[in-house]
Amino acid sequence: MNAIEFTNATYRYPGDDAPVLNSLSFSIRQGSFSVVLGRNGSGKSTAAKLINALILPNEGNVVVLGKDTVRAADGDLLFEIRKSAGMVFQNPDNQQIASIVEDDVVFGPENVGMPREEIAERIAFALEATGTEQFRHAQVSRLSGGQKQRVAIAGVLALRPEIVILDESTSMLDPKGRREVLDVIRKLQKEHGITVIDITHYMDEATDADEAFVLRNGELAFAGTPKELFARTDLLRACGLELPRAAELAKKLNENGVPVGDGILTTEELTEKLCELLQTD
Ligand SMILES: Nc1ncnc2c1ncn2[C@@H]1O[C@H](COP(=O)(O)OP(=O)(O)OP(=O)(O)O)[C@@H](O)[C@H]1O
Ligand SMILES: [Mg+2]
Repeated sequence: MNAIEFTNATYRYPGDDAPVLNSLSFSIRQGSFSVVLGRNGSGKSTAAKLINALILPNEGNVVVLGKDTVRAADGDLLFEIRKSAGMVFQNPDNQQIASIVEDDVVFGPENVGMPREEIAERIAFALEATGTEQFRHAQVSRLSGGQKQRVAIAGVLALRPEIVILDESTSMLDPKGRREVLDVIRKLQKEHGITVIDITHYMDEATDADEAFVLRNGELAFAGTPKELFARTDLLRACGLELPRAAELAKKLNENGVPVGDGILTTEELTEKLCELLQTD
């Protein structure tokens, strides 16, 4: 089943003539981990806002967990969609509401009037899933960027969304913080069956996604596996995308007489190939 379906969805910001998203059609499977790539201004965040029903398509449809967002707006169901598709943004400081971790995570459920016992259960789940229990009583301001971003994810999880959208959520983090957040994201998808959509500029985040989507000038330029994407040199260039670091290195090795072969995307794959080569020599 699809968690999200765009069908010829077009969106113009109020007052603009040209659409920012132009007849966009694609679908995302429930429980999958997708990355959305594309250069600045290609329409990634706008697409995320359409999924979260913060904005509605001018033409075409966006269906989220079986609900058409335009129809949901007519029937007052937008809140349901917003609850089921949680967003995590770039700057953890802008998403923080309370100064203590636990209060920050509890804000969402309290705000929607959830019963006390249920809140306790949700918080336990959110803190456990993001590995932030040990900071429960800590000041958010004293945490590292990666830890703060995990608290922000916990706040989203406390509303038990079926979909989590990360809009450049790792871009302000150092490599360690980025890894922490990505580990949490993978766990959400693998162990809790949450559909994850990761909008990112880091190609290394795309290598083990189930599916990669590339936007170019508000249109879908590619949908397929990361392996298929990173084999398309011309498309990557046209869309302003780079190769993942291991793939870049593999390319240079191939060009310089170390035949590691095609299709390498991750450090693990490259290491394995190099070990194989060393053994045969
Ligand atoms: N609130 C707005 N009003 C008018 N135009 C907007 C608004 N937000 C975005 N745009 C325009 O829509 C286009 C797509 O923007 P969007 O933020 O969706 O791109 P993006 O792919 O997320 O870019 P980035 O990588 O920089 O985050 C851009 O040309 C942008 O200037
Ligand atoms: Mg954006």
